[in-house]
Amino acid sequence: MNSLPRKPNKVIIPPIKTQGIKTKLVPFIMSNIMWEGDGRWIEPFLGSGVVLFNVQPQRALVSDINPHIIRFYRGIYTGEITTSKVQAYLEEEGRKLSQFGEEYYYEVRRRFNELRDPLDFLFLNRSSFNGIIRFNSKGEFNVPFCRKPDRFRRAYITKIVNQVRAIHEVMQGKKWEFRVASWQEILPLAQESDFVYMDPPYVGRHADYYTRWTDQDAIELAQKSSSLPCGFALSMWKENKYRKNPHLQLWSEFTVERTFAHFYHVGATENLRNSMIEVLLIRKGYEAPLGAEEEETTTVRMYQLPLFLD
Ligand SMILES: C[S@@+](CC[C@H](N)C(=O)[O-])C[C@H]1O[C@@H](n2cnc3c(N)ncnc32)[C@H](O)[C@@H]1O
Repeated sequence: MNSLPRKPNKVIIPPIKTQGIKTKLVPFIMSNIMWEGDGRWIEPFLGSGVVLFNVQPQRALVSDINPHIIRFYRGIYTGEITTSKVQAYLEEEGRKLSQFGEEYYYEVRRRFNELRDPLDFLFLNRSSFNGIIRFNSKGEFNVPFCRKPDRFRRAYITKIVNQVRAIHEVMQGKKWEFRVASWQEILPLAQESDFVYMDPPYVGRHADYYTRWTDQDAIELAQKSSSLPCGFALSMWKENKYRKNPHLQLWSEFTVERTFAHFYHVGATENLRNSMIEVLLIRKGYEAPLGAEEEETTTVRMYQLPLFLD
């Protein structure tokens, strides 16, 4: 079934981790959008792909300006990257990492910056400090090592291989197109029966080579979205105790808001100062009706955890 709204039985976790990954918000996103599913799911800020892999549309056009993410997923889609290749690669490279330590991580990083191999990208993504993806102004991956030479233990390799297998299975029989592109190239391709889901970087955060996002970008995205020929939804932050997102008003005339609150526990006490309200802005007419049992704001209590969950 490709249409929305619906809730996934179990959220599929992708093998690539990115800043702003929406794993926790997937059920919220999928249950608030109304879409027949006849056209293409268009996702111009793909990131980890977690939303795509759970929506599982029959047809999709997905893209990101970061070529490494797209090459990795396209490789799985075309069969160039298989679970057995990933397993053999991680076993071999993990063994060298545990033998030579930190030095070997930096060797793989140098090799990746020269040859751009998607498996080296996976290795770095899963062994860099805090699982961060960051590129310098020359487009070189520059995140330091997580300092765990035994990172690629058997259980961790199995987990990654299973994540690759899960998305490979989801891709079977689907007509998906993966492109390296800026969102400006993709939005004009949308047609009436398509649905566009957008998750741009937060303004002023994570500013690296691929994730710079300015006020001007945010304004242009709102303008171009308002004239899309189809339904769309956009994820952004709404407010915390100190600030409200000033860009929200750009969307207010043509979208409805559905909100989602994270409340962080710090130690044993709930610390509301750390709460953050996320919002899904949905083009009017494409929002799912609120179920009798559902509140307008979905609340999730989270514990202070490392930045990215495996
Ligand atoms: C917040 S992340 C998307 C996260 C994704 N929804 C997930 O759950 O993993 C934003 C993505 O937009 C991409 N990006 C940044 N600027 C872009 C641009 N101008 N055009 C297309 N993609 C861009 C980044 O590379 C990044 O992967």
